Amino acid sequence: MPFPDRRLRRLRRTPALRRLVAETRLGVDDLVAPLFVREGIEAPQPIASLPGVVQHTRESLVKEVRELAELGVPGLMLFGVPAGETKDASGSGAWAEDGIVQVALSDLRSEVGDAVVLMADLCLDPYTDHGHCGVLDDRGQPDNDATLELYGRVAVAQAEAGADVVAPSGMMDGQVAAIRAALDTAGHPGTAILVYSAKYASALYGPFREAVDTTIAGGGDRRGYQQDFRNAREALAEVAEDVAEGADMVMVKPALAYLDVIAAVRAGVDVPVAAYHVSGEYAMVKAAAERGWVDGAAVALEYVGAIKRAGADLVVTYLARELAESL
Ligand code: PBG
Repeated sequence: MPFPDRRLRRLRRTPALRRLVAETRLGVDDLVAPLFVREGIEAPQPIASLPGVVQHTRESLVKEVRELAELGVPGLMLFGVPAGETKDASGSGAWAEDGIVQVALSDLRSEVGDAVVLMADLCLDPYTDHGHCGVLDDRGQPDNDATLELYGRVAVAQAEAGADVVAPSGMMDGQVAAIRAALDTAGHPGTAILVYSAKYASALYGPFREAVDTTIAGGGDRRGYQQDFRNAREALAEVAEDVAEGADMVMVKPALAYLDVIAAVRAGVDVPVAAYHVSGEYAMVKAAAERGWVDGAAVALEYVGAIKRAGADLVVTYLARELAESL
């Protein structure tokens, strides 16, 4: 072989050659848009730390989802922001028939039908007055087993309102089995579960807490139930348990700081693997782009492309709309 070997370079010569040999192709079909719907507002509210993302009214949500459907975005992940005075110790707004997510899901079910897969985040934190993902025990930590029954109620309420997929994000042990049983018993065997399996206790969720108006009581955190960022191996154990319990899809979250975890999970299971490119990861791109320090659109493609390259089959990202517009 002559030196230097030009073999790899030859295939980088033109844009068409590069397209032809690209291993990873990011397309609109890979994207899931996280959306917020807030109870009791007259107009969409901007979220300062998530530029370009808003808390929707029921009406503006339907309009946004129609536009996403036209752009070909196949899925959305819905989060509810209840009115402050409805929060209580058990988070009952999460399963109330007239809870904000339930009414928004029925709007979407009747207005856009099957054009977009309706996924609903299934957790209690926006609805509890203490901000944790479950009901508390006498030490002020979520009581795992007491919470499972409530997750079952939320799942059934979301399925009845029209969710195609429920997405438990509370990291309670046994949540998938409990939710599957509750759905089947209530006559919803067709409702799928996308579980946040490998969910890390991350500082990158900061802007999200503003988006759903949640603060954890007493300056607490979720390190007692979400994963420690120093650990990768336990992610595989979490995923295996969720698949055994009946999860249809599993998720790694956050995404960019955990590409090694995404790759390991992809290699370890046969179900579709989702990755959540979270609020802090999005906000950093927007902040740097706003200052002209990076080319935001190029970084968006590179970041979400890297998440795919690591092995994600679907990417939940606040960039979904702008990527769909550019792809
Ligand atoms: C919990 C939940 C969180 C996010 C999605 N679901 C926050 C948390 O666990 O503290 C974060 C999403 C993001 O940062 O974009 N219901």
